[in-house]
This record gives sequence, structure tokens and C-alpha cells, in this order.
Amino acid sequence: MQNEPGDKDKSRYPRHIAIIMDGNGRWAQQRHLPRIMGHPAGVKAVKRVVQFCAEQEIQVLTLFAFSSENWRRPKDEVSKLMSLFMMTMQKEVNRLDKNNIRLRFIGERADFSEKIQQKMADSEQQTENNTGLTLVIAANYGGHRDITLAMQVIAQRVKEGIIQPEDIDESMIANALSIPDLPDPDLFIRSGGEERVSNFLLWQLAYTEFYFTSELWPDFKAETMQAAIDDFLTRERRFGRTSEQVQNLSS
Ligand code: IPE
Ligand code: IPE
Ligand code: MG
Repeated sequence: MQNEPGDKDKSRYPRHIAIIMDGNGRWAQQRHLPRIMGHPAGVKAVKRVVQFCAEQEIQVLTLFAFSSENWRRPKDEVSKLMSLFMMTMQKEVNRLDKNNIRLRFIGERADFSEKIQQKMADSEQQTENNTGLTLVIAANYGGHRDITLAMQVIAQRVKEGIIQPEDIDESMIANALSIPDLPDPDLFIRSGGEERVSNFLLWQLAYTEFYFTSELWPDFKAETMQAAIDDFLTRERRFGRTSEQVQNLSS
């Protein structure tokens, strides 16, 4: 696709953006509302960001919606998050489908109610042939757990004599993790001011560019996303090489 004069060079845009959507509780508290009121406001920000990524022809957007540690929150907040998850799928999946968006989930599903698990599976099936943006929702996801489960799969193959321990290489591990068929994130964004990974895609973030903003998730706008991408475009990704080597490679 030819870029119009003044247009950004979309070929250099991140293919995969991964976001920790943080700050819903504080957003509500700042307004003297109960923490849980921040989560529906967060869903509106999700819709803005999904629309932005679809329009900008980003290939993959992964959103951290619920971590394997978030079960530690007060019961009432967990149960409100579960109903919001269900309601949002019921309301939004047809629209995602119409917009050619493919929905996928990562994380352990067995801890969710049967009803939620069914809706997750149906939504994935309904959108599986869509060719636009792939929207990955990390729900009950933990990076340590992802790696642990991958190790179990590989250990089983060793036990059965299908492979030897020395056959284990990086690509075998990567392929046993979640979303092995998608490119690793190029850009990681965390809203809400905390600067940590909180057990998100640990393996896959090895060479990802990080962008932190103090903006709280419900305030996150298309402009915030554009600012993160503009910042990403100024980065030199060296993957261990020197700057001179990288410049020679790209010229
Ligand atoms: C992120 O916002 C949403 C979830 C973890 C589900 P938080 O609820 O963590 O908001 P803060 O960090 O308490 O403000
Ligand atoms: C990370 O946010 C998980 C999600 C956004 C779903 P948290 O708010 O739970 O992270 P910590 O516990 O402050 O690191
Ligand atoms: Mg938080």
C-alpha cells in the first residue's frame, strides 16, 4: 500500500501490541465511586483501542483482562468482573465479527464458570475465519503458569521417548506456549503508572519495546495509543547487534 505524503510509514508500525490495562480502580476512587465502577469504564476504553487497532491495520492486539493473581481480590470485585466479562462478550462479539476481527483467549479456562467457558469457545468459533485484527484476551493468564504448562507438555514427550532432552530448543518451548502462531509483541504498553510486567507474557516479551503511561485505563484514548506508537517508531531495535550493524542492515 502506497503511503500518502504526510502519512506515517505504516510498514514500520508494530505488528503485535500487548497492553496491561491498569488503573480502573483508581479511576473510580478519584471520582469517589466504588473501585468496581472503574471496570465498565475500562470496557469503553477497550472498545476505543480495538477500533483504533482495526483501523490502523495492526495485526494482533493482546489485552491483559484478568491475571491468575487477580482471584486474590475481594470476592465481590471478582464476581463483578466475571459478570462484566460475560456481559461484554454477549454484547460485543457480533460487532467484532462484523468488523472482521478474530477473537482468541489465552489463560486457564477451567477456573471460569461453564457458561463463561462456553461463551468463550463460541466466540472463538464464530470469529475464527476473520482475517482482520486478531484480538487476544488474556483471562486468568499468568506467564509463569504458561511456561509451566509448556514444560509439562515437553516433559511428557521426553517421558514417552518421542524426543530426547537435548532436542529441546527455544522454538520447541515457544511452540508449547500460548499463541505460538502469532508474532511476539513488538510494543508493550502499561497504563496506570506502575512500571512492572505483573506476570504477563514473560517469554514472549524478551525483545519487546516497553511504553508506560500514568494515564489510568478508563482515560486511555486513541491519541494515547498513537503517542505510544510514535514513541515506538523512534526506537532502534538492535537485538544484540550494534547500532552501526543495524543501520547497515536496513540501508
Ligand atoms: C486493571 O485495573 C483491571 C484489572 C486488573 C481487572 P485495576 O483494577 O488493577 O485498577 P487499579 O490498579 O486498582 O487502579
Ligand atoms: C495486572 O494488573 C493485571 C491486569 C491488568 C489484568 P494488576 O493491577 O492486577 O497488577 P499488580 O497486581 O498491581 O501488579
Ligand atoms: Mg491495578
